[in-house]
Amino acid sequence: MKLITILLGLSYCLSAQKPHLKEAVKFPLGSSVNPRLLNENEAYRNIATTEWTSLTAENHMKMMLIHPAADRFDFSKGDEIVNFATASGKRMHGHTLVWHNQVPQWMKDFQGDQKAWESLLKSHIQTVVSHYKGKIAGWDVVNESFLDDGSLRPSLWADHIPDYIAKSFQWAHESDPGAILFYNDYGQDGKPKKMQAILDLVADLKRRGIPIHGLGLQMHINVDSKRNELQEVLDKSIKTGLKIHLSELDIAVNPKNNPDFIYEEKVASAQAEQFNFVFKSYMKIPAAQQYGITFWNISDKDSWLRGYFKRPKEYPLLFDDKYAKKPAYTTLINSLHTLN
Ligand code: G3I
Repeated sequence: MKLITILLGLSYCLSAQKPHLKEAVKFPLGSSVNPRLLNENEAYRNIATTEWTSLTAENHMKMMLIHPAADRFDFSKGDEIVNFATASGKRMHGHTLVWHNQVPQWMKDFQGDQKAWESLLKSHIQTVVSHYKGKIAGWDVVNESFLDDGSLRPSLWADHIPDYIAKSFQWAHESDPGAILFYNDYGQDGKPKKMQAILDLVADLKRRGIPIHGLGLQMHINVDSKRNELQEVLDKSIKTGLKIHLSELDIAVNPKNNPDFIYEEKVASAQAEQFNFVFKSYMKIPAAQQYGITFWNISDKDSWLRGYFKRPKEYPLLFDDKYAKKPAYTTLINSLHTLN
C-alpha cells in the first residue's frame, strides 16, 4: 500500500512537471522560423512542434521575398510555414507588411506620383493580407517607423506617402477585419523620445478611429539592458490598453562582438536571470493584453545576430548549437512553475 502511494505520488509529480515551455505559460509562445530549417532539420522542427504554440516567418513574408516583381507575388515559402503551423495547431503571426528594409529592387526603382505610390502600397498590403485572411491571427502592419530621436524614419514610404502609417492600418483592416493589427518596433528602452513617438502614434490613430490593436516590442536586448528601463517601456505600453507582443526576443551576451568572448557560467546565469525578468514582467500584464512572446529564431546557431551581424561568438537564445536546452531554459521553466 505504502509503495502504491509513493508510486502514485511520484507519477503525480512527474505529470505535474510541465516538460515544455508552452505548457508553463498561459499565453501564446513561439519563435520566428525559417522554412528551409523546418524542412531539413529534424531537431529544429521538433522544437518548433513541441515547445511553441505560435510561429512567425523570420523573413518570408517581407516585401522583398513575398513580392519579388511588380506583377508577381511569391507565397510559396510563407505558405509552407502557414501549412506547418496549421497542421501542428499553432497560431500564425504575420511579419511584416510595411518596412523600410528588405524592400525589392523594383520598389526602390519605382517612379510615380503620390497616387501611384499609394496604389502600390495598398495593393501590396491588400494582396498579402487577403491571401492569408483567416489563417494569420495578427500582422505587424508597420515596422520600425521611428528613429531614436522620435522623428519619422525617412523611407520609401515616408518619403512618398503622407500619413502612410494610418493608411497602411486601414488597408490591412479592410482586407481582414478579423486580424489583430500591430505597430512593431525595437530599442525603446532608454530612448524616451522614441517611446513617446510610438505612444503619440497610438493616441493619434485611436483618436482618428484608425484600427490599431497591438504594440510589438521586439526585445532585442542584452544581458546588461537595464531592467528599470525595460519595465518602463512595458508599463507605458500596457497603459495604451493595446495587446502587447514581445515579438522578437533574444538576449545578447557579446554585443560588442569580442572575438575572445567565452560564454562562461557567470554570463550564462546573468542571461538566464534576464530571461526570467522578461517573462515575469510579461506575466504581470493583464491577460487580455497578452498576445504572447516570440523568440527571434530557435537556436543560437540560427540567430540573426550571428548571421546578419556576423557575431560568431553570440549565444542569445534558449537552445544551443546542437538544439539542446541551455541552462537558461531550465532556469526559466523552473521559475515559471513557481509563478503559475
Ligand atoms: O537568402 C539570402 C541568400 O540567398 C543570399 O545568398 C544571402 C547573401 O547575403 O542573403 C540571404 O538573405 C539574408 C536573409 O536574412 C535570409 O537569411 C539577407 O542577406 C539578410 O539581410 C537577412 O537578414 C534578416 C534581417 O532581418 C534583414 O534586415 C534576418 O535574417 C532577420 O532576422 C532580420 O529580422 C529583423 C526583423 O524582421 C525586424 N526587426 C529586426 C530583425 C533583425 O534585423
